[in-house]
Amino acid sequence: MWGGRFAEGPSAIMREINASIPFDKALWRQDIASSRAHVAMLAAQGIVSAEDAKTIDGGLVRIAGEYERDGVPEDWDLEDIHMTVESRLSELIGAVAGRLHTARSRNDQVATDFRLWVREACERAEAGIVALQNALVARANEHSASIMPGFTHLQTAQPVTLGHHLMAYYEMTRRDRSRFTDARARMDECPLGSAALAGTGFPIDRQMTATALGFAAPTRNSLDAVSDRDFALDYLTAASQCALHLSRLAEELILWASQPFGFIRLPDTLSTGSSIMPQKKNPDAAELVRGHAGRIIGCATALMVTMKGLPLAYSKDMQDDKPPVFEAAGLLDLALAACAGMIADATFNTDRMRAAAEAGFATATDLADWLVREADIPFREAHHITGAAVKLAESRKLALDQLPLEDLQAIDPRIDERVYRALSVDASVAARASYGGTAPDAVCERVAEARRDLGLE
Ligand code: ARG
Repeated sequence: MWGGRFAEGPSAIMREINASIPFDKALWRQDIASSRAHVAMLAAQGIVSAEDAKTIDGGLVRIAGEYERDGVPEDWDLEDIHMTVESRLSELIGAVAGRLHTARSRNDQVATDFRLWVREACERAEAGIVALQNALVARANEHSASIMPGFTHLQTAQPVTLGHHLMAYYEMTRRDRSRFTDARARMDECPLGSAALAGTGFPIDRQMTATALGFAAPTRNSLDAVSDRDFALDYLTAASQCALHLSRLAEELILWASQPFGFIRLPDTLSTGSSIMPQKKNPDAAELVRGHAGRIIGCATALMVTMKGLPLAYSKDMQDDKPPVFEAAGLLDLALAACAGMIADATFNTDRMRAAAEAGFATATDLADWLVREADIPFREAHHITGAAVKLAESRKLALDQLPLEDLQAIDPRIDERVYRALSVDASVAARASYGGTAPDAVCERVAEARRDLGLE
């Protein structure tokens, strides 16, 4: 493509280090779409003849058919998807193919193609999140009143409802989804027509190509447009935060599926066995979701480090933008699907969860709150009295609500028999009806709201 200026061709090393076709062939659909939009605009502006534009467009459509059927050929000499398409076009239609590259450069071409690809990746992530949210909300609805221990420091803290716990992940994924939506809104400008870096002398219509490719407007500075990879970083940072949430969910599923917890049984379809220990059922999907988060965060870091020292405008370093994005997108799509499947099909052992909540003195705060409310004792003193009750119950191997009233009264005579109503785990969660709290009624309200947001009612 640039033979005119060179006395010698590239070495084998140059060809290999330079080639992006092994990975950027994933952009072939976007590349053909942006070329078709470009040539239609060139014709509308009288920059190429209607007849040549028709020939070029026909060739591009034919190439798309070939790639769809046979895949994209990988010739390192052609470097990337842009030159691969153009070279095939000239094989198919001859010299007129050379008119397609009027008023553009691979710099604005790759920026446009990649944006189109990332935009779709955002849409896929959003759809994957919605599928997970549907599963979370359905299971939360089913378990709005199922009791489990809530933890801080992974120590039993206060009883909560399983529905409330699942809806915590709904909230996390709601923010994740909005980050992809925001990213899409920010990348809604089309770089095509920025040409190599400075714009072009041809009378192009950038609004026309922007509209044809589904962008709201053309980008406003040609230097920025060919240098900018914020859209890819926005995707990767949104993906990182989403993956981080999925990893926390996966971690909990792994813990809950362990024998000492025994809170859930993961579906067979998303577990594996052991080749040596016949009893094993391993939560591999969840472990890989947790593992993938590390790789996705690595992808985000990789591209940030690639970009951070680059002067304007295009430098070849930027060719390294695509592998981390492609890798992260593949991992995220899978992680979302695996989480949706695990949540939808897990079996919750609610008896075991309730027993764990009852075992850990999880209603100690309720006793302290009761002393404040019913005996007008300052909270700090109530905390102290309750601590003594927990100590006694622990030494007798009893739950708080199994301690005889005389024993409680020996600790503090202001306690009376009404206290037992506050000490059950059900009373404890029902009492926490503050907005956003764990009470079953509050959970049901949040579930109904989420179902409306998801368009389920
Ligand atoms: N293969 C290149 C990339 O992916 C396309 C842009 C090349 N531009 C250039 N001036 N060499 O970034």
